[in-house]
Amino acid sequence: MSVIISEATVLTESGEQRLDVRIDNGVISELSVSIASSGDDVVLSAQGCHVLPGFVDLHTHLREPGKEDSETIETGSRAGAKGGYTALVAMPNTTPAQDSIPIIEFVRAQGRRAGLVEVVPSGCITVGRAGVALAPLADLARNGVKIFTDDGSGVQDPAIMRRAMEYSRELGITLAQHCEVSALTAGAVMNECSCSSEMGVPGWPALAEELMVHRDIELAKLTGARIHFLHLSTAGSVHLVREAKKAGLPITAEVTPHHLSLTEELLRSFDSTFKVNPPLRSAADIEALKEGLLDGTIDAVATDHAPHVKRDKELPLDQAPPGMLGLETALGVVLSTVPMSAAQLATVMSTNPARIAGLSDRHGMLAAVGRPANLCVVDLGAQWSVDPQQLASKSTNTPFVGRTLRGKVRHTIFEGVVVVNEGVAQR
Ligand code: DOR
Repeated sequence: MSVIISEATVLTESGEQRLDVRIDNGVISELSVSIASSGDDVVLSAQGCHVLPGFVDLHTHLREPGKEDSETIETGSRAGAKGGYTALVAMPNTTPAQDSIPIIEFVRAQGRRAGLVEVVPSGCITVGRAGVALAPLADLARNGVKIFTDDGSGVQDPAIMRRAMEYSRELGITLAQHCEVSALTAGAVMNECSCSSEMGVPGWPALAEELMVHRDIELAKLTGARIHFLHLSTAGSVHLVREAKKAGLPITAEVTPHHLSLTEELLRSFDSTFKVNPPLRSAADIEALKEGLLDGTIDAVATDHAPHVKRDKELPLDQAPPGMLGLETALGVVLSTVPMSAAQLATVMSTNPARIAGLSDRHGMLAAVGRPANLCVVDLGAQWSVDPQQLASKSTNTPFVGRTLRGKVRHTIFEGVVVVNEGVAQR
């Protein structure tokens, strides 16, 4: 029994081609203009659709262990598969945090049990993400962890960050920084701007992000370490990364769909759906982020999928937790916001993030015979609107409800298995 994708536009290394795709035993076994099916094959219609490498999210909060009322590894995996993802890097701000081998192995095992995407746990940089003592980086690296972060907060102490960078070089791992100098953001609920002054609420200045981006670029220069910047949100950060890349430093960066598409003005409603960390910024920041994504300064789109239960997001703006959903809307928001070809989309949502997360041997590859079948089939022109009732995520805190988006996932194939068929999760 094979899986056959019929009448697709397949993105290959020689460009877009009108082909059928046959998948056997988890691998692409044939690519040809027309593939005949036999009775027990699963045939997926892909008319009008592109076959792309499955998306890879560098930044997903799956909440398990600890906050299973907002998301579980299974529900988050299903949301990911519906969004066209075949791999999700699980952020470490779980309870307990992902700073030990048993927790890392638990997250991986729950991912395998769900069987919808590859769940790739990140490790903490510091014990308990407390910023005081280094986590057992070497033990975790030996256990297969390739990307480390204290996301949810940045590593404040430059001496600890320097030490982590020195070890990271030896261990061949990537450190991913949440750039926020916390002394500058205490109590902040939104961007520091004229809106925050008029609303009389504490603001989160762009500088709080940019100071840490600058510090870590300097530390990367000193140590030779690879650093990835999570969810960049300001024009100043884009400028710093552009200059650092020009200088040849091994730096990568990501942007979220919401920072590409939503402005600080939305906070005027005092609706905590729009509260996120780092905060939504100005229209000028959005322009710089888009430009950075299109010119390669920013390598990847990452969701920062951050589910929260309704009762928490209904709290007043100053008490509600920051974060919004992202996995099921990422493709639509990105395509509705930034003009991109199928090839550019595959680069920023799959190939580059797979490389940054150390997954290039099985994710992010353009279709070719013999390659692992981690694929998504997407209709880049389809318009749809977000219905919170239809979300696979356990939470509904998305700011995109009711918006019309362009670009929809039709099928997702993970390790050769059809996990989403016609937009419907199969398990
Ligand atoms: O908005 C955010 N929510 N930003 C983060 O860095 C953490 C995340 C969360 O865990 O909810």
